[in-house]
Amino acid sequence: MSTVYLNGKYLPMEDACVSVMDRGFLFGDGVYEVIPAYGGRLFRLPHHLQRLQDSLDGIRIANPLSDTEWEQVLNELLQQNAATDGNKHDQSVYLQVTRGSAAKRDHSFPNPVTPTVYAFSVHIPAPDPDVTEQGIAAITLDDIRWKYCNIKAITLLPNVLLRQEAADQGAVEALLIRDGRVIEGSASNVFVVRDGTILTPPKGTQMLPGITRDLVLELAAQHNQPCREADIEEAELRDADEIWVTSSTKEIVPVTTLDGKPVGAGTPGPVWKTMIEQYRHYRDAVRSGELN
Ligand code: PDD
Repeated sequence: MSTVYLNGKYLPMEDACVSVMDRGFLFGDGVYEVIPAYGGRLFRLPHHLQRLQDSLDGIRIANPLSDTEWEQVLNELLQQNAATDGNKHDQSVYLQVTRGSAAKRDHSFPNPVTPTVYAFSVHIPAPDPDVTEQGIAAITLDDIRWKYCNIKAITLLPNVLLRQEAADQGAVEALLIRDGRVIEGSASNVFVVRDGTILTPPKGTQMLPGITRDLVLELAAQHNQPCREADIEEAELRDADEIWVTSSTKEIVPVTTLDGKPVGAGTPGPVWKTMIEQYRHYRDAVRSGELN
């Protein structure tokens, strides 16, 4: 049985309860993070904690824990769950902070209110060999989300509906189009390769500043691979040599079919192959403790 963290306590998931008046439950009034940990080592933790702080600032919740406290809580959780499984496998931690619960349902913030802090960890499965060999199918959809997509809000109804639309059409991810440009996926950032150059849309309020995205840009720069942050028109997306989507739990995934048509040669491309090797090399160095 897995252990979760809830408001200062570590307890079996089955015993963890939050109030039905919690504003996360009633309003989706909260933010979250998903942080991978390899061999028990949290991956890019300072980057995730900075984004958590930015999300909390964005919805005006004071951070309930210091960075040191977050690190202690998450490490304790990882350890307790690794111990249950008898090994230090790769896990991802989900953490969530909501504004807390109040006696009355009122849209405006209750005062005073204590945030609800919840975290759990799950095993990260090894990358699916089919995905690595064949890539995934994606579809394009109109980006129906709000104006603050840079905030990692738990209010994910548009993302849920968009991802389900992709699933209904036999695809794995939906790439979201706004004003004629691709922004990101329903739960991932997007990259394209055109004439040997890696391109990804610039950060802004329209998309989540992905931690994996930043690492891909860092690795590309380190290895002198041509790489640019630039707006990507829908036509450029459709005509790309390669398309990838990135996220903390899935790493870098090649998209080989877009709206039923092959992307480039219809197989994972050579630039993706180089990049995934560099990414996994970095990840394995963190896992072994060589890098932190
Ligand atoms: N989602 N964009 C969106 C809308 C996302 O939901 C995610 C990740 C990303 C990639 O961000 P990162 O590289 O920091 O994981 C981009 C997480 C994994 C989730 O909701 O489960």
